[in-house]
Amino acid sequence: MKIGTIGTGVIVDRMIQAVNMTDHMSIEAVYSRSEQKACEYAKKHGVKKYYWNLDEMLNDPEIDTIYVASPNSLHYSQSKKAILAKKNVINEKPFTPTLKECIELFELAKENNVFIFEAITTIHLPNYALVKEHLKDCGELKFVQCNFSQYSSRYGKYKNHEQTNAFDPAFNGGALMDINVYCIHFVTGIFGKPESVSYIANRGYNGIDTSGILIMRYPGFIATCVGAKDSSSENHVYIQGDQGTIRVFGSSCGVCSHVEFIPPKKDMIGKKDVSNTLNIGIEQIMHMTYECAEFERITRLNDIEAYEKLCDQTRLVVSILEQCSKGE
Ligand SMILES: NC(=O)c1ccc[n+]([C@@H]2O[C@H](COP(=O)([O-])OP(=O)(O)OC[C@H]3O[C@@H](n4cnc5c(N)ncnc54)[C@H](OP(=O)(O)O)[C@@H]3O)[C@@H](O)[C@H]2O)c1
Repeated sequence: MKIGTIGTGVIVDRMIQAVNMTDHMSIEAVYSRSEQKACEYAKKHGVKKYYWNLDEMLNDPEIDTIYVASPNSLHYSQSKKAILAKKNVINEKPFTPTLKECIELFELAKENNVFIFEAITTIHLPNYALVKEHLKDCGELKFVQCNFSQYSSRYGKYKNHEQTNAFDPAFNGGALMDINVYCIHFVTGIFGKPESVSYIANRGYNGIDTSGILIMRYPGFIATCVGAKDSSSENHVYIQGDQGTIRVFGSSCGVCSHVEFIPPKKDMIGKKDVSNTLNIGIEQIMHMTYECAEFERITRLNDIEAYEKLCDQTRLVVSILEQCSKGE
């Protein structure tokens, strides 16, 4: 994959780092709206080409994939442009604000013989696979609790009434879109479509959700997803059942070297009253490398089955985001 990037925020730095750690992928060019910024950004990362006209980058025959890391409100239009230029797309989360736009992009990609992926770390992580594998050990599930709370470096600006995309409804910002989306992926990637969904938010002066709790009802259990950009917490995922609890260390988007299995009670059905750690057997490495490797593999092998599964997952998450962003 030869990639051209859109955006010059921190996430693009991380994507470039991840791509450089992944086989068969390289950064061919970077794009910024400003010529000077594009030039400096290319220099910073040792990338040979830079563009400040998006159409020119999309017409570059040496680029086959566009990474879209612009403000959320631009994901749809820029991805669409890239598809029409016959490029594969890696589109940052949240994929699109509406399901209609999401479906349109998938259909357009098919018509143009390219792939479009949602850049979401969670469902590609090795600890996520381990959780899935050991889910049966928990018995009858009662609760899934995710908390991803990260005090945003932009929250101070927001409180001072300065413009910031991340807290602007016009840019599709907010805690649900920016941070809770990882928790939604975590839960729905394992349990699929919930029976019902509701979202209760703390809202700022412009109506944006600076934090909130999403509640998803599944047959027999309840999932709660806390996402906050206005405060911090110890981030975690707990999956609680009557035979035990699985704990994931850290947030729903990060790689951790082990997850923990906690039996509910001493001597219960032969299980020890100590926490068992389920080791992944890896050191923590750059969390975005796993999604990159999978996108590259699917594209190279034309693995339509795996691709369709990812599309289904993205469609489900976008439909939940859209439903919740319509209000309480
Ligand atoms: N920040 C993170 O840690 C993080 C983590 C995971 C995913 N993401 C996702 O990555 C995407 C980018 O996040 P971000 O925090 O970097 O966003 P951002 O700072 O709001 O904007 C990203 C880039 O888009 C360009 N841009 C800014 N305002 C614009 C506007 N009004 N019109 C057109 N382009 C504009 C800027 O690049 P130029 O000025 O160079 O053109 C900027 O670097 C989002 O979708 C976010 O959900 C972010």
